[in-house]
Amino acid sequence: MLKKKIEDICNRQIEREGYSSNLYLAMAIWAETNGFAGVAGWLYAQAEEEKLHMLKFIKYINERGGKAVFPAIKKPVAEYKGVEHIFNEVLKHEEFVTASINEIVSLALDEKDFNTHSFLQWFVTEQLEEEASVRAIIDKVKLVGKANMYQFDRDILSLRAPAANAPAAK
Ligand code: FEO
Repeated sequence: MLKKKIEDICNRQIEREGYSSNLYLAMAIWAETNGFAGVAGWLYAQAEEEKLHMLKFIKYINERGGKAVFPAIKKPVAEYKGVEHIFNEVLKHEEFVTASINEIVSLALDEKDFNTHSFLQWFVTEQLEEEASVRAIIDKVKLVGKANMYQFDRDILSLRAPAANAPAAK
């Protein structure tokens, strides 16, 4: 049985993962309607992954005898200044999520909840990979510069394999 404190903080994470998914969808829409089909494809795939992260928390809470609460999710920003702005925002958001996961890890240890601690290890690794992948993309965006965005947009899908069930880029 999950302790209430752990159930509550895992429920908070459901909202954060759900917001991540919606944020990346909003960014994908911006990219798709501004001529960046490759960037949109990457973001749609990322949005699907975040939805899966949300589902992992929902299932975990319910399987441990708690009750997942489907959250109200705030509306993400719809307008962006460009591709570099988007990826800077993605990185900022992923750093926030990493801190959020670390907070749950810390509470799980304080509460001696080793099952939750073990469940979270997948997320610890995933956040490390996601941050590294976004930093690599930002480096590349800076390297190619605004004049070569067409080439960057064409190549981005090869930087990280999109989730298999993500909608294809146009
Ligand atoms: Fe599930 Fe990348 O936060």
